[in-house]
Amino acid sequence: MDLEQILHEITQDMATRPDRGRVANYIPQLACIDPDQFAISVCLADGTQYSCGDADMSFSIQSVSKVFALALALGRVGDHLWTRVGREPSGQAFDSILLLEQEKGRPRNPFINAGAIVTTDTYLEGHSPAEALGGLMRFVREAADDEDIHIDDSVARSEIATGHRNFALAHYMLSHGNLRHAPDLTLGTYFHQCAIAMNTAQLARAGRFLMNSPDLVRMLSPGRVRRINALMITCGQYDGSGDFAYRVGLPGKSGVGGGILVIAPGQASIAVWSPGLNHYGNSHLGTLAVETLARDTGWSIF
Ligand code: DON
Repeated sequence: MDLEQILHEITQDMATRPDRGRVANYIPQLACIDPDQFAISVCLADGTQYSCGDADMSFSIQSVSKVFALALALGRVGDHLWTRVGREPSGQAFDSILLLEQEKGRPRNPFINAGAIVTTDTYLEGHSPAEALGGLMRFVREAADDEDIHIDDSVARSEIATGHRNFALAHYMLSHGNLRHAPDLTLGTYFHQCAIAMNTAQLARAGRFLMNSPDLVRMLSPGRVRRINALMITCGQYDGSGDFAYRVGLPGKSGVGGGILVIAPGQASIAVWSPGLNHYGNSHLGTLAVETLARDTGWSIF
């Protein structure tokens, strides 16, 4: 299999696609990103990496950060997290409040916004926001084996000023006793977490700990990695998770910045980025690209 050639052909194909999706505009700093950009990067278990397109352009990883936050929170409190967050797909948009009322402030899973806010609230416990974010950044930099990964403060501030739905979710959960900190403290941390910026090549490297490959340095136990992957395939693309599993057949986590981290267990960590989104809020061309990659490599787990 010539992976370099496969990535090259995917990148060429994506460049000719007229429908590029629509960039997220509810976060003002993301509304002005050029939707013509595309990058894909693959890290294999033997340590080789192949990248194509705009793979060194930095972007806002947004909800892809929820995977790193979940790994950190599980490391801190273990299965206790599941007393506050569920493990079921929601079938609702990532920022929906609907089920939260029916289910008394306990979010369906750690990847929808409400669940991610509780996850942040968990790793914040006993720390200042700066310390908590410092711990998260240490984890991400170690995973990527790259110190040059930072938080884009202008994106975080842009969302603090406009993130009214997330404030509503946080206050609602607080009213049910499912938030331990003041909403502005937890959300300040959450928005900065979402504003982590990295490029596609760095993101593919940062995902290697989820491959469960015996050849790579382990950051989490194999059991925990397996479970995070299970959550990624069932909940990682919100109400588009079934469609993604059907088309791609691999665990993935998307973000409204247009990035998707996809894991081929034991084989590869894949990052793709294209800022235009589909109606679920996941990268339109990114999904198409990993659908093609999974088909051409035979990496689907099904
Ligand atoms: O909280 C938000 O709405 C954003 N910071 C993250 C949402 C997101 O990335 C959804 N992903 N597709």
